[in-house]
Amino acid sequence: MFSSLLTASLLSLALSASAFPEYRSLAGLSAAEVRAVARTFQSTPGAQPPPPAINDTSSKLVFDDAHPYEPARPGDIRGPCPGLNTLASHGYLDRSGIATPGEIITAVQEGFNMGWDLAAFVTYAAFVVDGNHLTNLLSIGEKTPETGPDAPAPAIIGGLNTHGAFEGDASTTRDDFALGNNFLFNETLFDQVSISSGDRLWVNGTLDITSAAVHRHNRILDSMARNPNFTFTTPRYLTAYAETTFPLAFFVSHQKSDTSLSLGLDDARSFLQNNKFPDGFYRRNGSYGLTEVFAPFPDVLPGKNEGVGNYVVDPEDPGFNGGGLCYAYYKQSNLTLAMYPDPTDELRTALQQNMASFYSALGDPTCEEVFPFGQ
Ligand code: HEM
Repeated sequence: MFSSLLTASLLSLALSASAFPEYRSLAGLSAAEVRAVARTFQSTPGAQPPPPAINDTSSKLVFDDAHPYEPARPGDIRGPCPGLNTLASHGYLDRSGIATPGEIITAVQEGFNMGWDLAAFVTYAAFVVDGNHLTNLLSIGEKTPETGPDAPAPAIIGGLNTHGAFEGDASTTRDDFALGNNFLFNETLFDQVSISSGDRLWVNGTLDITSAAVHRHNRILDSMARNPNFTFTTPRYLTAYAETTFPLAFFVSHQKSDTSLSLGLDDARSFLQNNKFPDGFYRRNGSYGLTEVFAPFPDVLPGKNEGVGNYVVDPEDPGFNGGGLCYAYYKQSNLTLAMYPDPTDELRTALQQNMASFYSALGDPTCEEVFPFGQ
């Protein structure tokens, strides 16, 4: 009785949903698809401007009673990002692993004190190519009907697992797409960091900037040597170096270490493998945003392999040499246009809003705004 009432009310909602094709009957939908319809009405459908920056950026206990750890339930989605996975496992993000850009921007600030500009830039750089513009939902991992109905190909709406749209090669704890699984924690790769060696990796069981940079460099060399499709151009070039600093910037509890950039092995594993705040975890004191991100020893120029071991530098790609963020913004804009060459009016409006939100994350940039979907 209850389930038929639920189906009936979902059906009436669906019939008024412009984002959900009217010709489809809910009767033939899977449970996941029914949840997708329901979620479309729980959140405000359609693109929204980004939420504001949080006011209080002081250190505080974030593994608190209101945010208990719960392992992912069957059907909950986790993906390549240990930060977002952890936020979902503690309820800062919807535990399903499906979220709006606004929810992600707020959650990464609340849970980790990521700066608003960095949060908005990364979120929109990913959302415009991996998210569903009509329902405003993104999967933090695999493609799922829970983000809503597909747009026509070549749009993918594949979630953060999608290789080559935002996710890329040479991750520190996930394999390259061409070599293995690009979103699951990989013990072998983690061990390359965690086994203490002459390279100063995990000296005395802790990760510091030097060891993180060595590991970053080793991962690049490994991909050059083994991955025939290794691609290390913007935006992956920027995110790879930025993410090397993230464990030190975000995974060190403020209570344990006020100033030092040094992360213990167990705490690193807690985030990277278990998607869990260590007990009593305090977020950092003060935000870490675009102006704070630094590239630890970027020793390779952007480029890609043309065959194993044959790395060719891309002369167009500035990397960190000025204008890199603008170049990333233009590149993601072009990719979005390639995915949505002929959007419907409603989709075009959502794309316009999300492209404007993406540009706003740049703050006061030196680059011109582009309008691939009109103004
Ligand atoms: C703001 C929204 C965010 C998005 C959309 C995002 C997305 C991603 C994606 C797609 C990857 C995979 C990178 C690749 O393989 O190419 C990744 C990796 C990573 N993310 Fe996030 N992320 C976000 C925020 C955060 C936050 C707040 C943290 C830390 C608290 C974080 C920490 C990391 C780390 C450490 C990695 C590297 C994992 C590895 O190398 O194995 N991210 N993120």
